[in-house]
Amino acid sequence: MKKTRVVVIGVGAVGSTTAYTLLLRERADELVLIDANQAKAVGDALDMNHGMPFVGQTKVWAGTYEDCAGADIIIITAGAAQKPGEPRVDLLKRNIAIYDSIVSEVLKYNEDGILLIATNPVDVMSYFCLRKSNWPTNRVIGSGTLLDSARFRYLIGEELELDPRSVHAHIIGEHGDSELPVWSLANVAGSQLKLDEEAKTRIYTNTRDAAYQIIEAKGATYYAIALALDRIVTAILHNEAAVLNVSTLLNDYHGVSDVYLGVPCVVDRQGVREVLDIVLTDEETALLHKSANKLKSLIQTIET
Ligand code: NAD
Ligand code: LAC
Repeated sequence: MKKTRVVVIGVGAVGSTTAYTLLLRERADELVLIDANQAKAVGDALDMNHGMPFVGQTKVWAGTYEDCAGADIIIITAGAAQKPGEPRVDLLKRNIAIYDSIVSEVLKYNEDGILLIATNPVDVMSYFCLRKSNWPTNRVIGSGTLLDSARFRYLIGEELELDPRSVHAHIIGEHGDSELPVWSLANVAGSQLKLDEEAKTRIYTNTRDAAYQIIEAKGATYYAIALALDRIVTAILHNEAAVLNVSTLLNDYHGVSDVYLGVPCVVDRQGVREVLDIVLTDEETALLHKSANKLKSLIQTIET
C-alpha cells in the first residue's frame, strides 16, 4: 500500500501545532516539516520523534521541497501573522511574496496532490495558489470559515448549554471581518435556535473577533486552527464526503463568481468534490455579496 504523506510548509505556531495534532491522531504514515528556518523544522522533528514511543508509527522528518514528491496533501501555513489589532488583509502583500516562491518550489516536485492553505488572508492566498498552480479547483482548498464556524458552534453551545457537536450552524464568506452568520439555517435537531437578537449579535461579534481577542492575549492562535486543518486532512485521506465550510472558488454561487470564499463543501479524496447550494435569505445573500466584493478588490491588487 502506498504510504500517505502530508507536508507542512511553515512550522511556526500554526504549522507545528498542526503537525503535532496530525501526529497524535496518526493521520498519515509520513509527515514532512519544511520551514525557511531549517533549524526550527529540524528541532520540531526531533522533538516529535522523541514522543514516538507514546504514539504510533508516523515517520516525521525535516525535509526539503523535493519531499513534496508523492505527497497527498501539502499544507501551507508559512508567512507573516497578525500583530495585535491588525486585520488579516494587511498581511496580503508580504504573504503573496512568500507564496510566490513556495508554490513554485512545490510545483517542481508535485503535480497531483492537494494544496491546503491556512496562511492569511486565507481566501486570497488560496485564489493566488489556484491561479499560480493551474491545478483543478477541487485540489486547491483554503481552511476558509471552518474555524469560524467551530467558534460559532462553540459559542452557541455555551449559550444554550449544549454540546457544540450537536449545534449545526455556519459562518460563510471571508475568513475575516466581513464573514457572515447563516442564522436562517442554524439549528439543533432540526429546530430553530431559541436565541434573542441580543444573544445573536453577541455570539456573532465574539465569533468574528475571536482571533483579535486571542492574539491580544497570547500573540497567536493555533490550537483550534490545527484541529480544523486536521479535520480537513481526515476528510480527504479517509474519503469521507464530509460537509465542511472550506474556502473554494465560487461559480455563480448566489450570484458570486471568481473569488474564493468559505461555504459548505463536500470534502473527499478528490478535495472539494462539490459546493453545497444552501438557501439564504435576501439579507444573508447581500452580506455574502459584500464579503465577495471586498475580497475581489483585494485580488485586483495582486498579480495572479
Ligand atoms: P509564525 O510566525 O509562528 O510562523 C510562520 C512560519 O513561516 C515561521 O516558522 C517562518 O519561518 C515560516 N516562513 C516564513 N517564510 C517562509 C518561507 N518563505 N518558506 C517557508 N517557511 C517560511 O506564524 P503563525 O502564527 O504560525 O501563522 C502563520 C499564518 O497562519 C499566518 O498568516 C496567520 O495569520 C495564519 N493563520 C491562519 C488561520 C486560519 O484560520 N486560516 C489561523 C491562525 C493563523
Ligand atoms: C484565526 C486566524 C488568526 O485564528 O485567522 O482566526
